[in-house]
Amino acid sequence: MKPFLKIYGGKFYLRNFIIECFPANWPDLHYKEWCLAGGSVFLKMLGRLKNEAWLNEADWPTFLIWFAIQNDPEAFHQKLLKLKYSEEEFLKQKNILTSKKSNIDVAVAKFAVLRMSRAGMGESFAWSERLRGGQPGDLNAWQSSLQGILPLSKRIQKTRLTNCKCEVLLNNEQLTRADLVYLDPPYLKEVDGGKRTSKNGYALDMTPEQHEDMLKAAVDSDANIVISGYETELYNKYLNTDSGWNMKYKDVVNHSQQQKNKKVRREVVYRNFT
Ligand SMILES: C[S@@+](CC[C@H](N)C(=O)[O-])C[C@H]1O[C@@H](n2cnc3c(N)ncnc32)[C@H](O)[C@@H]1O
Repeated sequence: MKPFLKIYGGKFYLRNFIIECFPANWPDLHYKEWCLAGGSVFLKMLGRLKNEAWLNEADWPTFLIWFAIQNDPEAFHQKLLKLKYSEEEFLKQKNILTSKKSNIDVAVAKFAVLRMSRAGMGESFAWSERLRGGQPGDLNAWQSSLQGILPLSKRIQKTRLTNCKCEVLLNNEQLTRADLVYLDPPYLKEVDGGKRTSKNGYALDMTPEQHEDMLKAAVDSDANIVISGYETELYNKYLNTDSGWNMKYKDVVNHSQQQKNKKVRREVVYRNFT
C-alpha cells in the first residue's frame, strides 16, 4: 500500500532497500515496527506478512492517527473530507493540536498538519502550482491520501498498536529469533558535526540518552533487529562487528530540502544478522 502520511524522515524512498536488508524469510517472522510514524516499510510489507504485526509510535497524536484508522475509520475519514486544503485550515488545525480536544479531533489535526505542511515538518503550509492529476500537486496528494484510509483500516484490524517508547519495549519484551524488529528513530543530532542542535522536524525527538538505551537494549536482544538512520559515532560504538552487527549503505537525495540542488546523504542500515 502507498504511504498516506507525509513524514519528515519518512522512509518511502528507501523502503525497498530496507526490506532487502531484512532476513530472506521476513514474511514468516513476527514483525515489529516500533518507530512507526507513517510506517512506509510496514505498508510495503502488508499482504505478505504471515503473522500480525506490532506497530508502535511514541508520539501521542501520531499514534492517534493509526488508532483512529483502526478503530473509528468512518468518522475519521468524514472529518477529514470536510477540511479544505488551505493555509487557513492548516493554521486552524495547528491550533487544535495544542488545545485539549477529543482523541479523534487530535488525530484529524495531526493528519492535516503533517499532510498540509512542507516536507511533513508541520511548520509552514505546502503549496506549489505544479500540476498533478490536473490540479495543484499538494491538493492532489491530499485527496489521494484520504482515499487510502478506509482500505488501510480493513487491513490493520488485528494489528497490535501501542504508544510506548521503543527503548522501553526493547528492554522489556522477551524476543527471539522468530521476531524481526525494525527501528527508524529520529536522527541523532551528532549528524552534521553536531550542528543540528535545533528542533529537527519531529514532533517527538529522542535524547542521546534514549538513543543509547535503545542501542544497549538492541545489542542485548535475541531478536533480528534492523535500525536505519545516519552513521554516527554513538551507533558505531554499540553496533559493530565485535557485537555481531553489520552495515549496509544507500545514498539518497534529501527530499526534505526545498532547494533545487538537493543534497545527497548516505543512509545506513545496521543489522545483527547477515
Ligand atoms: C524517522 S520517523 C519514522 C519514519 C517512518 N519509518 C516512516 O517511513 O514514516 C521517527 C518516528 O519515531 C517517533 N519517536 C520519537 N521518539 C520515539 C521513541 N522513544 N520510541 C518510539 N518512537 C519514537 C517519532 O515520533 C517519529 O514518528
